[in-house]
Amino acid sequence: MNFQSKKMLLQIRLSKTIMLLFFVCANSLWVRAQEITSPDKNLSLKFELKEGGIPSYQLSYKQKPIVKPSSLGLETQNGASFMDGFTVTNSAQTSVDESWNPVLGEEKTIRNHYNELVVTLAQAKNNNRFIRIRFRLFNDGLGFRYEFPKQNDLSYFVIKEERSEFNLAGNHKIFWIPGDYDTNEYAYTTSKISEIPSLMKKATIEINAQYPIKELSVQTPSMMKSDDGLYINIHEAGLINYPAMYLEVDAANNKMISHLAPDALGAKGYMQTDAQSPWRTIVVSDKATDILASKLILNLNEPTSYKDVSWIKPVKFIGIWWEYFVAGRSTWAFGKENNVKLTDDFTKLTPNGKHGATTERAKEYIDFASKNGFDAILIEGWNIGWEDWIGNWKEEVFDYVTPYPDFDVKAVHEYAASKGVKIIMHHETSGSATNYERRLDRAFQYMNDNGYDAVKTGYVGKIIPRGEHHDGQWMVNHYINVAKRAADYKIMIDSHEAVRPTGLNRTFPNWIAQESARGTEFESMGGLAPDHTTILPFTRLMGGPMDYTPGIFQTDLSYYGTGSTQRVNTTLVKQLAYYVTMYSPLQMAADIPGNYERFPDAFQFIKDVAVDWDNSYILEAEPGDYITIARKAKGKNEWFIGGITDENARTANISFDYLPAGKSYIATIYADAKEANWKENPQKYTVTKVIVTSKSKLKQYLAPGGGVAISIKEGNPSELKGLKKL
Ligand code: NOJ
Ligand code: CA
Repeated sequence: MNFQSKKMLLQIRLSKTIMLLFFVCANSLWVRAQEITSPDKNLSLKFELKEGGIPSYQLSYKQKPIVKPSSLGLETQNGASFMDGFTVTNSAQTSVDESWNPVLGEEKTIRNHYNELVVTLAQAKNNNRFIRIRFRLFNDGLGFRYEFPKQNDLSYFVIKEERSEFNLAGNHKIFWIPGDYDTNEYAYTTSKISEIPSLMKKATIEINAQYPIKELSVQTPSMMKSDDGLYINIHEAGLINYPAMYLEVDAANNKMISHLAPDALGAKGYMQTDAQSPWRTIVVSDKATDILASKLILNLNEPTSYKDVSWIKPVKFIGIWWEYFVAGRSTWAFGKENNVKLTDDFTKLTPNGKHGATTERAKEYIDFASKNGFDAILIEGWNIGWEDWIGNWKEEVFDYVTPYPDFDVKAVHEYAASKGVKIIMHHETSGSATNYERRLDRAFQYMNDNGYDAVKTGYVGKIIPRGEHHDGQWMVNHYINVAKRAADYKIMIDSHEAVRPTGLNRTFPNWIAQESARGTEFESMGGLAPDHTTILPFTRLMGGPMDYTPGIFQTDLSYYGTGSTQRVNTTLVKQLAYYVTMYSPLQMAADIPGNYERFPDAFQFIKDVAVDWDNSYILEAEPGDYITIARKAKGKNEWFIGGITDENARTANISFDYLPAGKSYIATIYADAKEANWKENPQKYTVTKVIVTSKSKLKQYLAPGGGVAISIKEGNPSELKGLKKL
């Protein structure tokens, strides 16, 4: 470097230092507190540094406190933490108002409208090492995250714990499941925050591969309601390269504190600048319907970088699946043996005589799918390994490319293709993510070669690498890598047992659905409470679509004569309503085809219902009690309505004002019969056709544990003739 440029560099450094000094003084002395409001002014967010340079925020809604002053920060394992000693060195505000179109979704167009505050916080005691906290305030809530920009004195660090506080304004009612590093498949408990400690033991029921957190904590999305009727939902958005967050509960003080999933060594996130945490989200409203309508979590996720998304399609499917849970007539496994290795010759196994995924059975399902307009069939148990897949923390269980001797992949594919039906691949990993990653490319190539364009993945059991958790940073990255790699092969993913979703279906739109909650399968294993599905949309589904697997018509499982006394705790009609109330662009008609043939008039709704939408209208909702939603099918003048109730009968108030004015439509109403109820009489229903217009109003009876489903379409004059007006 010559003398001249050295001098210039010095000058630049000098002026930078002066500027920095100016900012430090200006900000720390005169502008300690920063405030922004939401675009509609209902929400207000205040940021300030407390004594000792501790970052703190508070949030209010219509002048009422939602989050009282609460500290923010992170502890690191090695070296100084990001907890205190901060000064504000910069702050900036911006506003954004834009729209975008999801590939698949509840709305064709989503508005992203917020006011933003970014504060830069430096630690003088640590060489002015700095972080940023970014707040985005929408009309429906707040998102904030930590950012760790590239800088001289900070490259790598390991998180010991994140310490984001949510100091709530009261002892709210809360719908919760226990915090667990490995599963979300718990039943919900409804209580006051103060009652969580005494109810935790009872709530922590036994589930395969669970790891309840030893500190008192609950899972997110966490849904709360205050005594004065405010609805508050805490979750996260954009969970990438970071562990999932739980909420540690300080029940005496109505306070929640972030708690991250550890890795095998107890660390909670390996970070390299540039880096950021996921968004912490607080959705707020005085209307429960607004919580369900919120798009805040999707808005906080990054737009997709996929150039071509034309291959990502909604899927309505049936599957060789429910019979494994109820009928007792079939199994995933082919052989009688229970100690096998992938290297064994599976053609030499002794057939158990009950294998479900045979070529013959697949063809029956394909016929049924094609006859009834389904896009696809899921076939589980097609591949070798199921004799010995669970419970042994075994690394090499499946190879994803070798079918059982009685399942002819090529013949099934050709038959399906000739009938215009797709086959959904099944990749159960039994938690061995290492084995799956090693075989992933071959597995996806095999799918391409055999005409599969969607795969249901599964992570039942304890994770390998051993000591890792389903929700830790390693696995969070694994699921995303699988989705990204699948996109290279134009494959869609439906993951089961993965970390609960955080809106990443915006960024990776081929990750079209997830399970990550207690779904229909539990109806065959103890049952779900009748209010379960009135809670799920307020909790698990806040993060993204759920493959809930609805559509069970034969709800009394003793029907199969296998000794089971289990019951699906709904009426038949409530199962129909789920296609609208449980949003997913991937929807299964989960029952066995024979059961649909017994109720053809009710089955018509499942055949007709759309799974991708232009608009959604949340008509009525109360977590734990009821939900009524209307949606307009994507690109079609068809509307579908679903209404559900808990164990109590109720009258749903259904409006039709979203229909274009001045036109008559045919509504087919699938209703619980007067004498129906989920316990003794679940299969009694009526199907009625009436004429509706945008001015119509319907008061509809829902049986205990029941629902209502309505399809609406245009009709020509001859079809309308003779129908009564509602
Ligand atoms: C659990 C999944 O949720 C279920 O749908 C699947 O059939 C089994 N695992 C086997 O993979
Ligand atoms: Ca209830």
